[in-house]
Amino acid sequence: MPTLDNCKICREKYNCLILKEQLAFYNRLGISQIDDSIETGSLTSIRHLWQDSTRTKKYDPSWNYAEDNTRAYTHSIHPYPAMMIPQVAGRLIDMYAKPKAVVLDPFCGSGSVLLEAFIKGYNSYGIDINPLSLLISKVKTTPLNYKLLQNELENILRKTSLIRKTESPDFYNIDFWFKPDVISKLATLKRAVSLITDERIRDFFRVVFSFTVRVSSNTRNGEFKLYRIDEEKLIDFNPPVIEIFKERAEKNISGMADLWKQFKNNKTRVNILNEDTRHRTTINDGAVDIVVTSPPYGDSKTTVAYGQFSRLSLQWLGFDNEDLDTDNRSLGGKLDTNNLHLGYSSPNLRHATDLISRIDKKRARDVMAFYVDLNKCFAELNRVVKKGGFLCMVVGNRTVKGIQLPTDEIVADFGKHVGFRHIETIIRKIPNKRMPSKNSPTNKAGELGSTMTEEYIVLMEKVK
Ligand SMILES: C[S@@+](CC[C@H](N)C(=O)[O-])C[C@H]1O[C@@H](n2cnc3c(N)ncnc32)[C@H](O)[C@@H]1O
Repeated sequence: MPTLDNCKICREKYNCLILKEQLAFYNRLGISQIDDSIETGSLTSIRHLWQDSTRTKKYDPSWNYAEDNTRAYTHSIHPYPAMMIPQVAGRLIDMYAKPKAVVLDPFCGSGSVLLEAFIKGYNSYGIDINPLSLLISKVKTTPLNYKLLQNELENILRKTSLIRKTESPDFYNIDFWFKPDVISKLATLKRAVSLITDERIRDFFRVVFSFTVRVSSNTRNGEFKLYRIDEEKLIDFNPPVIEIFKERAEKNISGMADLWKQFKNNKTRVNILNEDTRHRTTINDGAVDIVVTSPPYGDSKTTVAYGQFSRLSLQWLGFDNEDLDTDNRSLGGKLDTNNLHLGYSSPNLRHATDLISRIDKKRARDVMAFYVDLNKCFAELNRVVKKGGFLCMVVGNRTVKGIQLPTDEIVADFGKHVGFRHIETIIRKIPNKRMPSKNSPTNKAGELGSTMTEEYIVLMEKVK
């Protein structure tokens, strides 16, 4: 009987194809829950971890915050897919942060965790590969004098009414996504914003501009992916571009006024890094005390496409092609065949992908591509988190081909592999307003998949 820690032929634990074949065979039989760390001399010691997880999990309604205000300060200056609610981010930081703790969000998105760390007085790092995410995070966490912003808004509106002719950007399909009148108004707004000399104030209005681009484009409401409004509806779609900009600017200034009044003298640092968490980052070894994060749910093709969500804004803001390619650079953008073994380190993942592969091998490979990449991030987290530090990961257990991927178990497996002890997993309900009511499992418009109604907060401690 083959065992996990040796192969009779080559004695290689992870690289032995024969051993892998045998494991795959057990998987197909449904006997797949093998814990690598256990001496497995015979079939009798094979553990069925997935069905009967021994990890502590509890549903705790006090984490739902269904009725709470999630828009305080600058938290809602710009929509972003799958935002973490401030209450969850703040509570996780409070649970584990000691004085002078350093917080990291390695998938910072719109910066919810970073703003919570900032207002609680903890220095932080945020990493993301999406330039729009970095811009929103920066503006969100930079208190600005709201009176200067109000003056600047008046300037912008005055200039916009004066600018007669301005050059429109020339990106692929611009006429498909924007009506001619919208293009001309956006171009004048863009020009007026670009004339602002103070970089921080200019960035503040670039975020407002990005919001305006989104709302005045011919894209359907409530979709993260780029789907065009139906032809008949488009005829009557005439968004008031300047009013949208003005209204959003006023809302954002009001949020910023609260942040400014309370935190203008706050010396807490927020370091926002345009880096890739799969690789070695510029953060020093052991520099981080607590990680609070929500990684992507899956690959960009079949789950949330952050790149598609951001593309029109980034094109209008003048980013170049490489910056627009976020979806291919995101976790699971490409199957890294050299590192397939990283998926193998989770028994739960082996089991789930094996089940999916029986229905659809390509989807099973996509799933594997995502988790192989996610596992690479664990190596980096292990490097930057100090011993005794904490890792709090908020994940969703999405369903692929009818099979639920136990991501909460998979990340705990990955964590265990690099030296994080699982503390407990808290289950919370996702308030409807933060997620699209339906998501599309494929790239086809109108094709709907089931929605996740709960998420898992997996808590781990670095012990090695
Ligand atoms: C679920 S979102 C985070 C949302 C965030 N918690 C918030 O409140 O806005 C996941 C983020 O991971 C980013 N991402 C994907 N692959 C990445 C990588 N390899 N390195 C760093 N960030 C990545 C995406 O661009 C996206 O912004």
